[in-house]
Amino acid sequence: MIEQPQSRRRSWAEPFKIKMVELLKTTTIDDRRRAIRDAGYNTFLLRSEDVYIDLLTDSGVSAMSDRQWAGMMVGDEAYAGSANFYHLEEAVRTNYGYRYTVPTHQGRGAEHIVSRLLIKPGDYVPGNMYFTTTRLHQELAGGTFVDVVIDEAHDPQHEHPFKGNVDFAKLDALVERVGAERIPYVSVATCVNMAGGQPISLANLRELRSWCDRHDVLIVHDMTRVAENAWFIKQREAGYAERSVASIVNEICSLTDAATMSAKKDALVNIGGFLAMNDEALYQRACGLIVVYEGLHTYGGLAGRDMEAMAIGIRESVDDDHIRARIGQVEYLGEQLTRAGVPIVRPIGGHAVFLDARRILPHVPQEQFPAQALAAALYVDSGVRSMERGAVSAGRNAATGENYMPKLELVRLTIPRRVYTQAHMDVVAESVIDVCASASSIKGLRFTYEPENLRFFLGRFEEAAPQGAHAKVAGSV
Ligand code: F0G
Repeated sequence: MIEQPQSRRRSWAEPFKIKMVELLKTTTIDDRRRAIRDAGYNTFLLRSEDVYIDLLTDSGVSAMSDRQWAGMMVGDEAYAGSANFYHLEEAVRTNYGYRYTVPTHQGRGAEHIVSRLLIKPGDYVPGNMYFTTTRLHQELAGGTFVDVVIDEAHDPQHEHPFKGNVDFAKLDALVERVGAERIPYVSVATCVNMAGGQPISLANLRELRSWCDRHDVLIVHDMTRVAENAWFIKQREAGYAERSVASIVNEICSLTDAATMSAKKDALVNIGGFLAMNDEALYQRACGLIVVYEGLHTYGGLAGRDMEAMAIGIRESVDDDHIRARIGQVEYLGEQLTRAGVPIVRPIGGHAVFLDARRILPHVPQEQFPAQALAAALYVDSGVRSMERGAVSAGRNAATGENYMPKLELVRLTIPRRVYTQAHMDVVAESVIDVCASASSIKGLRFTYEPENLRFFLGRFEEAAPQGAHAKVAGSV
C-alpha cells in the first residue's frame, strides 16, 4: 500500500476518542425567549445550563486530555518554587523559545503587567488590530492604540491569505507624526482575533523585526493563538509546507522580544496564562509587579496543578495532527455556511466562523447593534450561544466618548477545542441558515445599561423601535 503524504489525507478527523461526556439540558423556544430577555439580549449574561451548543468563546472551554488530567494530580501546591512552575518554564523555553516566564492568572494579567512596564503616558502602541482587553490595558497605562493592520483585514469579503499582516506605510506615518521615541513597542497578535482569526505571515513578521530594529522599538507578541497561525503559514506561505507546526511556532516567537499568553486558548487549559520575555532586566521588573498584582513569580495567581496542565497543553497544542483537526472542524462549519450563501468573514479563521451581520441584517443600522441582535436571535432559534464582535465590543473612544463604529460588525461562532462533534456543527449550520432566512423579522437593540469599560461583557439591551418608525408616526399625525 502506498502511504499518502500528510497533506493528501481526505479527512480532518480528530486524533482522539471520547472518554467522558457532559450531559446537556434540552430547552424549548419559549424557555430561550425568556432566558434572552432576562439576560438583557446579551449572550454573556445567559446561564450556561440554558445553552445547548456553547460557541461564546474558545477561551478556557477546551477539553483537557487524560495526560493533562493526570498532570493535575501531581500539582505541587507550594507557595514558592513549585515543581510545576519549572515544568511550565521548560515547556515555554522548548516550544516557544522565550527565556523567562512569569505565570499570570490569564492573558489580561500579562497584558496589565507588560503595559505598565513598557508604556509611559503619552506613548503610542501600534498593533495589527485591537483586542478589547489588550487595548484597554494600553490605555489604562496612558498609551494610545493605533491600528496598523493592512486594510484588507477590515474587509470581510477579501480573500487575502494573511489578513493579520502589518502595513508598514501606516507604521511609517505614525513615526512621522509622533516620533519613534513615543513608541515603546509594536503589539503584534498571531491569528488576529478581531479580524476573524486571521494569520500574519512570517515574511511580514520578519520585515517587522527589521523595521523595529531600525527604529529601536520592541515587539510584544500576543501569542494566544500562535499554533493556529503556524498552521496557516504551513498551508499558505511558500517554503513552509514541509515544516512542522512546532518549528514554525518557534520561528514566529524567535522574531519577537516578549509575549503575553492567554493559555485558555491554544494551550488547552481552563485557566492560566503567562508573560514571557528574553531580556533579564525586563524579567526582573516584571517579577516586581507580579508580586503586587498576581502572586509570587513562581505561581502568578495559579495553582501548581494548573501550571502542570498548561505545560502539558503547550506540548499538545503544537502537534500537527491536533491543529489539523481543530482548524478542519472550523473550516467544516464555515464551508457549510458559505455553500448556503451565508455571508461570513473570508478566508475562514482559525478559531471561529464570523457571520457578517451588516449583510445579514441590512435593515438594522449599526447604531442598533445588528451583531448583538443576530446573536440573540440565533440563541432563541436553537440554543446556540455566540458572541457579538462589532460596535458593542469596540466601545467608545477614551478621549472623545464617541462610539467606535468598526467596519467589521460580526457574530462570532467560536469553536472550543476538542469539545463538539461534526453533528453539533451541522446543528449550528442549520440554525444559522434558518435564522438568516427569516432575518428581516429581527429588530435592532438599544442599551438599557452601558458599563464604562468592556461594555460587551455586562451591558444590557432591549429591542429598539425600527429606524424611521418615529418619523412615520409623526408624519401620520
Ligand atoms: N488576547 C487575545 C487575542 C484574546 O483573544 C484574549 C481573550 C486575550 C488576549 C485576553 O486573555 O481572556 O485570558 O484574559 N479572548 C477571549 C475571547 C476572552 O473570547 O476571545 P484572557
